[in-house]
Amino acid sequence: MVGSGATAEVLISAAEIAHRVDELGRELREVYHDAERPPVLVGVLKGSTLFLADLLRAVGIDAEVDFMAISSYSASAGQSGVVRIIKDLEGGIAGRDVLLVEDIVDTGLTLTYLRRALGERGPRSLRTVALLDKVARRIVPVPVEFRGFEIPDVFVVGYGLDFMGRYRNVPDLYAVRDLARLANDPMLLVGPFFGSDGRART
Ligand code: IMP
Repeated sequence: MVGSGATAEVLISAAEIAHRVDELGRELREVYHDAERPPVLVGVLKGSTLFLADLLRAVGIDAEVDFMAISSYSASAGQSGVVRIIKDLEGGIAGRDVLLVEDIVDTGLTLTYLRRALGERGPRSLRTVALLDKVARRIVPVPVEFRGFEIPDVFVVGYGLDFMGRYRNVPDLYAVRDLARLANDPMLLVGPFFGSDGRART
């Protein structure tokens, strides 16, 4: 546990993540290795970047990478599922095998939007790999063909996932136990996570 009053605790260690990413890589290699053209891994910025980098190496086959960035739906928009593409793919995906790489599926609204938007571009296939899945929070059912871990309804940071832009480079995945406290002081976990020499603890 880190942070005074146990604000956060390790939910999934870096070693467990690495092991599971290797397994996912093997599963994905089975699916894509004999395809005519290399699959296109589409990373959803920014949360999926660490996962994508590790997964890409774990898959180990010829593959292309592209990125999308979307605005998360604002509090004022509520849970309408209205998201906006801030950065689109550089390449076309018509006729391609596309693998959407997501950090986490929560309500499912973002993924539903992304699958629809990419599906309209005529890919040969469209699948999703999500590192984390908060099944209990789902509002809209959406296919997640490959998942790393199912997790409970807790807010998580680390391994790419952030709180107000911070903590993405924390190697373990932490559950934030006191989100209200962290919201009050977003830097609360900087000290415990990065230590006195400023390097992330491992
Ligand atoms: P959804 O549209 O509700 O499924 O939300 C997906 C997005 O919400 C993710 O891509 C994350 O950016 C963000 N998100 C959801 N839960 C968490 C969390 O526990 N920690 C950090 N970001 C989260």
